[in-house]
Amino acid sequence: MKEHPHSIPLIGLGTWQLTGDLCLSTVKEALALGYRHIDTAVSYENHKEIGLGIKGYKREDLYLTTKIPIESVDFHDVVASVEKICDSALLDLETDYLDLLLIHSPDHEMPMEKMIFAMEKLRDKGKIKYLGVSNFTMHHIENLLSHEAYISVNQVEFHPYLFQQELLDYCKQWHIRLVAYRPFGKGELLKDPLFAYIGKRVNKSAAQIILRWLIQRDIPAIPKASSTEHLKANLDVFDFILTEEEMGKIDALHRNIRYCMRDFAEFSY
Ligand SMILES: NC(=O)c1ccc[n+]([C@@H]2O[C@H](COP(=O)([O-])OP(=O)(O)OC[C@H]3O[C@@H](n4cnc5c(N)ncnc54)[C@H](OP(=O)(O)O)[C@@H]3O)[C@@H](O)[C@H]2O)c1
Repeated sequence: MKEHPHSIPLIGLGTWQLTGDLCLSTVKEALALGYRHIDTAVSYENHKEIGLGIKGYKREDLYLTTKIPIESVDFHDVVASVEKICDSALLDLETDYLDLLLIHSPDHEMPMEKMIFAMEKLRDKGKIKYLGVSNFTMHHIENLLSHEAYISVNQVEFHPYLFQQELLDYCKQWHIRLVAYRPFGKGELLKDPLFAYIGKRVNKSAAQIILRWLIQRDIPAIPKASSTEHLKANLDVFDFILTEEEMGKIDALHRNIRYCMRDFAEFSY
């Protein structure tokens, strides 16, 4: 089994629903504030704006992630189809390579390992550095591994109300980096009084407490923010520490709530 030593900036910018001028100005502002990881997807329809936003920065200083929508892959010719999608992303992002290319979500009827093998070819050609998946359950990953299809990352919904300890442990065991998307549950978690209570001790907001809970577990997070205040706050999470007791109280908030419900959350696979 191959190991994937892999360093990902702990805080990245999520860009779902950021399009057009707002996307361009947000990416520029985020980079000026110090963000280096931008998370996008073919389906977010903002590659061109991100390509413009990153101009002027050294490519090797940035970490760009995008995702392939399974529905746009031609399963009669996976290799050519995946390369075409990647080439189009590279063109729009105005870059020579992606740091990370993910399968956006699993599909029970398609052989996912074929996608991984096609992405390996892109890695061999230098078009991507790492490859991975998103929204994969342990069963989906087990299936990949049974075909000797190895991945570096699984990007999943992960926050205190969906503390997926078993999946996290499983990913660690296989040297797969788990990346946390929708860390605030689109803002819903920010209302929980526990974060305000802990925030009072360290003079931080609910959002900052949640991000700190993730990074103290070495889990990279990709919160989406569009206001200057939110962009700044989400980076300002490296100057305080949550106690073990506080971490435990946050762990105990788990209630198996998903804010991103799609077919992939069906576990009978
Ligand atoms: N792989 C997948 O299938 C998948 C699925 C969902 C999401 N994602 C990725 O994960 C990213 C994040 O998820 P998300 O956008 O769904 O939701 P989220 O990051 O959980 O929440 C975003 C919301 O929180 C607000 N916010 C941000 N920072 C804040 C702060 N410091 N204080 C208070 N509110 C704050 C934002 O407001 P403003 O915009 O007004 O600043 C926005 O309304 C996405 O953008 C995308 O890149 C991936």
